[in-house]
Amino acid sequence: MHNIQIKTERLLLRPLKIADAEEVFAWVGDERVARYMCYTTYTDIEQVREWLAFVEKDTSTYLFGFERILDGRLIGSGDIGWNPAKGCWGFGYNLRYDCWGMGYATEAVKAMMDYARVNFGAHKFASSHCEPNLASGNVMKKCGLHFVGYGTFQKLDGSMRTRSMEYEGESNEQ
Ligand SMILES: CC(C)(COP(=O)(O)OP(=O)(O)OC[C@H]1O[C@@H](n2cnc3c(N)ncnc32)[C@H](O)[C@@H]1OP(=O)(O)O)[C@@H](O)C(=O)NCCC(=O)NCCS
Repeated sequence: MHNIQIKTERLLLRPLKIADAEEVFAWVGDERVARYMCYTTYTDIEQVREWLAFVEKDTSTYLFGFERILDGRLIGSGDIGWNPAKGCWGFGYNLRYDCWGMGYATEAVKAMMDYARVNFGAHKFASSHCEPNLASGNVMKKCGLHFVGYGTFQKLDGSMRTRSMEYEGESNEQ
């Protein structure tokens, strides 16, 4: 796990620890949040602890908890990492249900992209969402990406397969 902290106007992006499991369960255990994510809804906090233990050892992706500065509560998480297959930087995000619609995802994603630009020389980004998940597409557009075509989305356990909308963006499009 990395040791990076990024501060934005309302959020502190920081590494997630096993001790965060209870707060993380509030969104990964919520089917409204998990619906269009590649993971299936977590049903047990022990599963969250196992995932966080795995994440602590993972060095391939930069995963951040989004901590709200106002109250110190975790309101979601996201990650950014180099995608060798696509030759660009990919990112993802999810938020606690009661925190949707307040611009937090856009604020967090912009901060992760800026960090990757400045520190890793990232200039090309890509992300995608399940076709009906228009709010996520709006986040991508607000972060400077544009729609490039359709693809396929599949949950990790294979329980859902559907059309995805693929987005890309270059640094100079910001
Ligand atoms: C997708 C998600 C992260 C968006 O978070 P958020 O903090 O609400 O996003 P933001 O407020 O930064 O921006 C969302 C934009 O989509 C718009 N929006 C919200 N719901 C929408 C909907 N149902 N249809 C179309 N647009 C919608 C918002 O109005 C906002 O645009 P605006 O600022 O121009 O008004 C959040 O809904 C979430 O966690 N969903 C579940 C997990 C998920 O699907 N993650 C993405 C997987 S690809």
